Amino acid sequence: MSVPGQASNRENLPTLRGAGPDLGEGLDARPANLNQMIKRDLASADPATRAVHPPTVEVRQRPLTPPVYETSVFVFPDLESVDQSFSTPGDFVYSRMENPNTLALGQQVAALEGAEAGIVSSSGQSAMWLAIAAACAPGQRLWYAHHLYGGSLDLIQTEIAGRQPVSGFDPWADPLPPFAAGDAVVVESISNPLCQPSPLGRLAEHCQKAGATLVVDNTFATPVSCRPIDRGADLVVHSLTKAISGHAHVILGAVAGKKDLVAKAAQLRGRLGMTADARAAWLALEGAKTLFVRQERAVANAIDLARRLVAHPAVGAVHHPSLLTDSSWQRDLLAPGALLAFDLGSQERANTLIKGLRLIVLAPSLGDVATTVSHPGLTSHRSIGAELGARIGVTPGLIRLSVGIERVSDLWQDLAQALEALR
Ligand SMILES: Cc1ncc(COP(=O)(O)O)c(C=O)c1O
Repeated sequence: MSVPGQASNRENLPTLRGAGPDLGEGLDARPANLNQMIKRDLASADPATRAVHPPTVEVRQRPLTPPVYETSVFVFPDLESVDQSFSTPGDFVYSRMENPNTLALGQQVAALEGAEAGIVSSSGQSAMWLAIAAACAPGQRLWYAHHLYGGSLDLIQTEIAGRQPVSGFDPWADPLPPFAAGDAVVVESISNPLCQPSPLGRLAEHCQKAGATLVVDNTFATPVSCRPIDRGADLVVHSLTKAISGHAHVILGAVAGKKDLVAKAAQLRGRLGMTADARAAWLALEGAKTLFVRQERAVANAIDLARRLVAHPAVGAVHHPSLLTDSSWQRDLLAPGALLAFDLGSQERANTLIKGLRLIVLAPSLGDVATTVSHPGLTSHRSIGAELGARIGVTPGLIRLSVGIERVSDLWQDLAQALEALR
């Protein structure tokens, strides 16, 4: 089949060179005329052939809501174009490397975090792996806070510990451990599940002096409650599965931060195939539009519920940054976060509460618009074992509440009626 018009369009090619944006810049700067160079002559084709080559509609108006680019690969008029696109940031060749939806979401996370660049990956777990691999120089030590999400602890202690030196540390310790040049240091801005704010500014200063790279998991806080880069972090990791997407409909992760480190993570993501799905990225980007209004409401609800739980006679320790008497956390956080945890003394009592709830459901995740409850000991932290669990406060009676955007009076009514059985 001939490809009419292609030769005469070749003079367009030089205008495309180097025209793509760098990581972190807008999609709008991309050249638009490659598609017009790709022509198919279907005039005399059999219907069986036409069925394989449906019409492609050129849309000149920008849709208010962007489309989902559900394609594994992109097409090119000639070898020069495909060759050039491999090395032009913002051009797309193969969706394992990048896709318009994943690129847009990565740029959005970077924008929300005030980062130079950002990428998305298949899950928060793969984002953590990519960030550690990008941040830690070969053979150097990975320092991880004991108070991480159980899945991160499991990843570090089982997969990473066999390949390089790793050490757990206490981010609140004084003095901090002797980080060295090329080391990576991983903490959570608000820890899972005990909602402890990490001293990010102090950690960043210590890392900068040592030449170590600070990686902060900002999933619990979201960019609404914390901007780790403003506090001196080099990389931020997210489980976008949680509040940024906000509707419990995707599994996704993100790495944002310094351009060179994010570029390294992007390369690894392509090699290892830790790519995000285009439709999931699209859903998360739509969800992220309402992140601030959702979080503002959810955080206000969490502050209210934390205060009420503290006063309830059936409840033991309650954990939420708003309850801390020492206000030093306000240096590192912009707001306290929408997660809280409280201790009911035993797994049996925790189960009684969960079974008594009529509105709030048991769902071992967080960050949905609906309030959900979970039991860290049996779910998010089940891999860490009872000994470390006891050391970091993940007790059998600990309940974690991911506070949503419902009317807070309804949430308290539900909790209060379920707590009645524990008096
Ligand atoms: C703080 C934190 N980081 C990372 C992850 C892992 O994210 P994902 O489940 O998207 O892989 C989780 C999951 O619960 C989490 O709570």
